[in-house]
Amino acid sequence: MGFFGKIFGKDERIDPIDLGEILVDMHSHLIPGIDDGSKSMEESIELIKALYNLGYKKLITTPHIQTDRYKNNRDIILSGLDSLRNEVEKEKIPIELDAAAEYLIDDGFTDKMSKGGLLTFGKNYLLVELSYFSEPFNLKNTFFELQTDGYNVVLAHPERYTYWHNRIEIYEELVTRGIFLQLNINSLTGWYSKESKEIAEKLIDRKLIRFLGTDTHNQQYLQELQKSTSMPTLLKALKTNNIINKKLL
Ligand SMILES: [Fe+2]
Repeated sequence: MGFFGKIFGKDERIDPIDLGEILVDMHSHLIPGIDDGSKSMEESIELIKALYNLGYKKLITTPHIQTDRYKNNRDIILSGLDSLRNEVEKEKIPIELDAAAEYLIDDGFTDKMSKGGLLTFGKNYLLVELSYFSEPFNLKNTFFELQTDGYNVVLAHPERYTYWHNRIEIYEELVTRGIFLQLNINSLTGWYSKESKEIAEKLIDRKLIRFLGTDTHNQQYLQELQKSTSMPTLLKALKTNNIINKKLL
């Protein structure tokens, strides 16, 4: 048993961690009405206030872009960001707001990729997610092409792709290939599933995580986030993995 295993028993809780330690959140669904996240401007403002109170200084919100379900594009997202920024200014919430997107690697993604101009954040980081049901075909090629085009690929919530549950070496390989892994903080309590929690813990043990995200969609995510701040595994991630959210400020 390693050092952290000894001091943190399995169901132990620690004093809540100030999420100001992370400073920047780079995964959320806060632009109202364009995906399965916030449903109204009022709800968005409540969520942003709560994230500010948890310690975040900057939010890079990432609406879904999916070929079949959420047909968002650059213009829709950036005009949504404008309205949201205006409202945040009116409400005098001292938080910086930016936007990118969470792209699903689906059949229509290659087309979007070849058109160029994908929404990124920081050092050309591109947030992508995969199907929860089956491993996408040709994933390695898609990632390689994105990297060749100059994108730094960030894989959203790798712990939620439970078809890789018993193939932890896949994550090592992705990291070796230069993919950045972004863990959802709420995976640490087992909120999504027991399997996701187990993968999350393995990824932290192997020091494979580079970004931590809230993936906020609504108030329930924030209630769970509050609980997550008492998980020893969150402290472990912050202390032993090279988490680079702060560099996005
Ligand atoms: Fe998301």
